[in-house]
Amino acid sequence: MFTKAIVRTPGRSLTSGLTAANLGTPDYQKALTQHRQYIEALERCGLDVLILEADEAFSDSTFVEDVAIVTPKCAIIARPAAASRRGETVSILPILEDFYSYIEKIQPPGTLDGGDVMQVDQHFYVGLSERTNRAGADQLIEILQRYGMTGSVVPVTEFLHLKTGVTQVAENTLLAAGEFIANPVFSDFRILPVPEAENDGANCIRINDKLLLSAGFPEVRRQLIDQGAELIEVDISEYGKLDGGLTCLSLRF
Ligand code: GLY
Repeated sequence: MFTKAIVRTPGRSLTSGLTAANLGTPDYQKALTQHRQYIEALERCGLDVLILEADEAFSDSTFVEDVAIVTPKCAIIARPAAASRRGETVSILPILEDFYSYIEKIQPPGTLDGGDVMQVDQHFYVGLSERTNRAGADQLIEILQRYGMTGSVVPVTEFLHLKTGVTQVAENTLLAAGEFIANPVFSDFRILPVPEAENDGANCIRINDKLLLSAGFPEVRRQLIDQGAELIEVDISEYGKLDGGLTCLSLRF
């Protein structure tokens, strides 16, 4: 059960964020409107949303999920691999100190983005990706074990982050795209396969009895209609231009 979320307002420097998407430059005003609508969707899910000020020094800092992993027992400050994002962790630490008694940190040579961490109950799947290396994943798993949780690694080759291509949408059910549809790591789950044309719709957020999905993915929507959760569609097209998904825009705990 989540009760809180942290988001960060995008700055104008958002338009120079990292991207491999080839979908054009985000429209800043539209991005601001979509960010407000995203916050409203989180509030509809019953969350108290803490809205951090824009940080113009970091173009990608609205993707606040990447800088920390928030668990029921502790928070872990991540260590983004992208040089332009490394400094984003400095300002999230004092914020998390208001909510957590126990805060850990990923240390060099480890790198880890929160987008590579998918929690399913007390277990955390950790993507080994362009952004998260083995040292970072191993450190996270060791920290989780110290707090009575578990973790395991999942190679990621086709997507930026693990959760770009796979997210939990119901009890024991994953929405999965591309390489994750038939990955034996997830063989104990019921898999809802995402057609390739809708890969960008695989990133959903399950919050309490609601499910946030990105607007514009009709087959994903059709797959989710029977999952027993109220669906809330949010248009985040401007963030998709920066490889960002729904989960990337908040920390939920
Ligand atoms: N634009 C989000 C990221 O590449 O981290």
